[in-house]
Amino acid sequence: MTALAATEPFARNTERIDMSDLADWPTDRSILSVDANAREVTLGWDDGVRRRFHAIWLRDNCPCTACRHPQARERRFLLVDAPRTIAVDTASLTDGGNLVVRFAPVAGEAAHESRYDAGWLRHHGSGMNTSDDAAGIPRRRLWDADIANILPTVTYADIMQSDAGLAHWLRLTLEYGFVLMRDAPAEPGVVLKIARRIQDEPRVTNFGAVYDVLTQSTPNNSADTTTALEPHTDLANWRNPPDIQLLFCVENEASGGGSILVDGCRVAEELRKVDPASFALLASHPVEFRYHEADCDIRYSALSIETDAAGSVVAVRFNNWLRAALDVPEELVEPMYDALLRFWRLLREQRFQLTLRLAPGQMLTNNNLQIMHGREAYDPRAGRRHLQGCYVDLDMIRSRLRVLSRRGATS
Ligand code: OGA
Ligand code: ZN
Ligand code: ZN
Repeated sequence: MTALAATEPFARNTERIDMSDLADWPTDRSILSVDANAREVTLGWDDGVRRRFHAIWLRDNCPCTACRHPQARERRFLLVDAPRTIAVDTASLTDGGNLVVRFAPVAGEAAHESRYDAGWLRHHGSGMNTSDDAAGIPRRRLWDADIANILPTVTYADIMQSDAGLAHWLRLTLEYGFVLMRDAPAEPGVVLKIARRIQDEPRVTNFGAVYDVLTQSTPNNSADTTTALEPHTDLANWRNPPDIQLLFCVENEASGGGSILVDGCRVAEELRKVDPASFALLASHPVEFRYHEADCDIRYSALSIETDAAGSVVAVRFNNWLRAALDVPEELVEPMYDALLRFWRLLREQRFQLTLRLAPGQMLTNNNLQIMHGREAYDPRAGRRHLQGCYVDLDMIRSRLRVLSRRGATS
């Protein structure tokens, strides 16, 4: 196969190529040069960025209607049936500044021509992960008690009445892992209306789709008593605990009952700094959690601290009343308890905690994988305390933001 180089004078990116994608991929950057050989195409951009696109990747991502179903937009190109060596024959720019690649014909098959939008190319491939940046999906920020100075807050009207307000709430949720909402009608059921801004039906658990938190004479869980709740993640006994908790205050006339929030990922990073051995234990040895009553027994063993491939803390799991009997090799019993206690004591430190008192019509949105919540004990003799909660999926929050960004509501 002969290697080809193509560099053409070029006008600013003016045409959009249909990438079989409902999102648009606008860019202010232009492709200035195209260098190709059989195995790859290298694009040079007007800001000096140069990126290589491999023949196999380009062929796999052809957006034409033969390669992608025109209605479902899903891939129908079968890479497994393609020749082992996919080779670029020619690569060039269209007059509008987009890329055209002709793949070499192979035995029994005609050459295939593919067109790629320059903006789409700018946002995909090479592990740069900028497609979500383009959709306005923020990266997470860790926080400590100083968050009180910039408390992420929205109003009920923001969430319910405009796409921009909805996007703002969802972005804050992703950025800080929690948001305070205020000024809603303090009525049962409002939490469900809010959840429906994200997904039609909330996530159902053994506590139902929408659950009440109030003093019960025969409670089936600790939240339905008046005791303090240590910082925790909900449903730690599930294989996949719910991602996002919406906790809405209907009534709060009781004395006490303040809400506590702690960034579990922030505190886990602190543990790594002050006690790396404890961190390593909690990030490598699972703890079992359990919830059981007459007709269920839901248990799961999982790591207290979950890290990603780069080693960053991405999730925590911690819940004292759901914690089952520790089940680790004998020699690890004391080190595991030590590690859990080190973590727990850090979680209790004031410098990491945000405390606030939910007023009726206010709601907390918490990322249950990252942020721990708790509450102070309360005394119901002064009046009733009634919260309603439900859970929604992180996937649907990101999805909503991407859809809103298509409509321009996130810019
Ligand atoms: C819960 C919970 C906190 C509160 O129901 O999971 O943590 O303030 N409730 O009652
Ligand atoms: Zn194609
Ligand atoms: Zn809880």
